Amino acid sequence: MTTQKRDGFSSRIGVIAAAAGSAIGLGNIWKFPYITGENGGAAFILVYLACIALIGLPIMLGEFSIGRNTKKNTVGAFEALAPGSPWKYTGWLGITAAFVILSFYGVVAGWTLNYVSLSITNAFAGQTAAQLESSFGAFVSNPISPIIWQIIFMCLTVAVVLGGIKNGIERYSKILMPLLLIILIILAIRSATLDGATKGLEFLFKPDFSKLNMSAVLAAMGHAFFSLSLGMGTMMTYGSYMRKNENLAVTAVQVSIADTLIALIAGIAIFPAVFAFGIEPSSGPGLVFITLPNVFSQMPFGTGFSILFFTLLAVAALTSSISVLEVIVAYLYEELGWNRVKSTISIAIPITFAGAILSLGNGTLSHLTMPFLINGGISQMSLIDWFITLSDQLLPIGGFLIALFIGWRMDKDSLKNELTNNGLIQATYIQAYRIIIKFIAPLAIAFVFISTLFGFF
Ligand code: TRP
Repeated sequence: MTTQKRDGFSSRIGVIAAAAGSAIGLGNIWKFPYITGENGGAAFILVYLACIALIGLPIMLGEFSIGRNTKKNTVGAFEALAPGSPWKYTGWLGITAAFVILSFYGVVAGWTLNYVSLSITNAFAGQTAAQLESSFGAFVSNPISPIIWQIIFMCLTVAVVLGGIKNGIERYSKILMPLLLIILIILAIRSATLDGATKGLEFLFKPDFSKLNMSAVLAAMGHAFFSLSLGMGTMMTYGSYMRKNENLAVTAVQVSIADTLIALIAGIAIFPAVFAFGIEPSSGPGLVFITLPNVFSQMPFGTGFSILFFTLLAVAALTSSISVLEVIVAYLYEELGWNRVKSTISIAIPITFAGAILSLGNGTLSHLTMPFLINGGISQMSLIDWFITLSDQLLPIGGFLIALFIGWRMDKDSLKNELTNNGLIQATYIQAYRIIIKFIAPLAIAFVFISTLFGFF
């Protein structure tokens, strides 16, 4: 039994801000555009939206329910609801996924910090798209500076997590996320009014299903989990800090809508410019870092916007990275009884170390590649791509197990109590919800997963 007093969220806006702060991050602004570019645009986006609505949203609601019902970390929650059963390994899978995600997340967030610094020194002035691309490549393959930025970012993450939930997480998200939205809208308007922008809008909104293959579908599904912070216990952990009178369904819908909107607006800020400047849509992880500096150079006060944008992107990354770290910290703190400082630091160090190796994989260690099963064949990937792909697979597996758990194992009344706040509010959707979480979501995940790995379609 633990008698430690649990930290919690103090206000409704704080809850939404923290959950949305977790969801909105590099996933929306860095990963979504570049994987959309790699997978051909609009058709991929439609599959992504379907995954959000049919799979992501129900699982988010389920994670909130498990978390608030048990008031526990991800391993402890399964242990509380299904004592002595192997379900706790679902929690362990989440902890593994958190390690994998934060390793590469810290690296990319470090790139963002470097771009804040480049914006301040006005380093993009007068550069062509090709020059920006080669300076991005030179930066990420450098053995030292990306790692220094990564370490700085990880220190910031540790500092916020050490502050605890209320003072740390809640306070930062509240003001800065809306500000990010405003900047993105300004950027989207500038980008969509560039000469030659229509092609980019077509790319985003005119679906061509012939370009869609099964591995694109897996990428869309994996990214739905990634972007909504699902499948590894983040939303469970945040649910455990929510108050009893919070309407979980409304919160889940609001967070999903906010997250999806930000991703789409980021797409509108990026693709028109990609086409206007003749950049390859499939340029990969550097896409945002190559495209946006070009947009900034085409607008009044470009330098100021650039500094503000990359700073806010780093903040968005921070409100996400803390939610990943918190999953592991909550486990160490509650299950092993370590104090918060020891829990946080002892896991942040190995994660940072792993991330530094991934970063070296872009340059010094680029000869090291990892094999991966996809479409029935083995392909080789760079270390960082391998971790990103791994997370695209671990999260749906976690989500699959969470859906099965809610649908088949979790006590029906406990679920109902969470969805209705112990009978105080109505949950007319509950029948439909049970069907989705029992059958539709797990079957859809299993189908996409198996067919992609073995290349059935
Ligand atoms: N959703 C965040 C983003 O889009 C990343 C993230 C935070 C995450 N917590 C997570 C991803 C938990 C998966 C699981 O940037």
